[in-house]
Amino acid sequence: MHRRLIAPGALAASLLLAIPASAADFSPGAPGIGDPYYPASGNGGYDVSHYDLRLKYQPKTDLLEGTATINARTTQDLSRFNLDFGLKVSEVRVNGKKAKFAKTGDQELEITPPAGLAKGTAITVVVRYAGKPSELKINGYTAWHRTPDGGVAAQEPEAAVWWFPSNDHPLDKATYDVSVSVPDGSQAISNGVLQSQSSKLGWTRYNWRSNKPQASYLTTLAVGKFDITTDKTESGLPVLNAYSKDLGDNAGSARASIERTTEVAEWLETVFGKYPFNALGGYVPNVKSSYALETQTRPFYSPAAFANGSNASIVVHEIAHQWYGDSVSVDGWKDIWVNEGFARYSQWLWSEKEGEGTAQELADYVYAQHPADDPFWTVKPGDPGPDNQFHGAVYDRGALALQALRNEVGDDTFFAILKGWPQKHAYGNAKVSDFVKYAEKVSGKPLAELFDTWLYQPSRPGAPAAKQARV
Ligand code: ARG
Ligand code: ZN
Repeated sequence: MHRRLIAPGALAASLLLAIPASAADFSPGAPGIGDPYYPASGNGGYDVSHYDLRLKYQPKTDLLEGTATINARTTQDLSRFNLDFGLKVSEVRVNGKKAKFAKTGDQELEITPPAGLAKGTAITVVVRYAGKPSELKINGYTAWHRTPDGGVAAQEPEAAVWWFPSNDHPLDKATYDVSVSVPDGSQAISNGVLQSQSSKLGWTRYNWRSNKPQASYLTTLAVGKFDITTDKTESGLPVLNAYSKDLGDNAGSARASIERTTEVAEWLETVFGKYPFNALGGYVPNVKSSYALETQTRPFYSPAAFANGSNASIVVHEIAHQWYGDSVSVDGWKDIWVNEGFARYSQWLWSEKEGEGTAQELADYVYAQHPADDPFWTVKPGDPGPDNQFHGAVYDRGALALQALRNEVGDDTFFAILKGWPQKHAYGNAKVSDFVKYAEKVSGKPLAELFDTWLYQPSRPGAPAAKQARV
């Protein structure tokens, strides 16, 4: 806390004494955390350590209601601050005292506590709310999947706004307790370990705990009717998978894929080092979408991923993200390559191991698939822009960049880098440029040009990674 030097005389000084010592310095927290791709995402002025969500959800009406309790610490002298949230709020308390609040825009909740909060203060924010997530549209868009038997929150880069108030950016990760009450016969699935479940008055409450830092978009909720399988890995991790009872013909192929999660995770441990979280699993709700998402400890899979039979490769992709994306998160959304390039490359390594084509062969194939005039090459994986964040080039050209690295530094160094990086930045955030520096340090080679060619040029590199390596 710093005080302003006051030049004027006694009158000014005595007036100042009448108000809290440095109230003049207290200012609002920024309404965004400073991500140029998504200026409204996240907020300034505080850092969250824990979310406790105690909710109730009625599948018949899509009504979600309850209380979020947020433990945080202020990072500046704060007069007010924002949370990112879209549902209707009825009460907010900060450290026990009622606070003023206002919705400013679709996804900002502005909170003004009765007195300023000095920098470094531990705060507990209680937000009471209710609403139908399916009715919340932001720019015509929703991240909430309404299903015949419930609803699901799973989307990137934003999903939390539809179901709990948060500092909605990967830069502010926190631990979670998610407790959700649903009518008997339905289940509520979330991240981490199912601590307990119990039923009374016709409602069953599911208590989930995720005890390692977790980004808000990786926090998931699915309510519906599921078949659940549970197990323990040899190292003692609880495994829980959930399959909608309504998967039809895809039920067998979904199970044949996701029940291999433990095998996939154990293989990935040989590549990336120890698995970073307290639980393993996956879930398949009866949604119509076609993507998957690496929701922490328990990825979300659309049934469509299994329409042609088993798909262990998608499990490899989402479990690889547990290291690359979830434990080590993007610093800003432009760094998406540190997630997707590596998750795609893991699928190539799996193919190599399964005898379905080496990573080099797949790199050659992908390169040949895209002629020089293909707009594919105009997308820069190292800074694709918000509209192309999940463009195929971020994945495939992103993986080509890693094949180029592998060919440049050799297998021993390449795999040392793949294992060292998740260790170095465990539970943190990192930029593309951090990876380039790290690879240079481990290999002892200058690599700026190689990464510039593969990640930042809006054109097809002159020769593919493969051919360079062979001459
Ligand atoms: N990180 C996810 C994956 O690679 C991508 C999700 C993109 N979202 C979407 N609606 N396509 O599996
Ligand atoms: Zn991915």
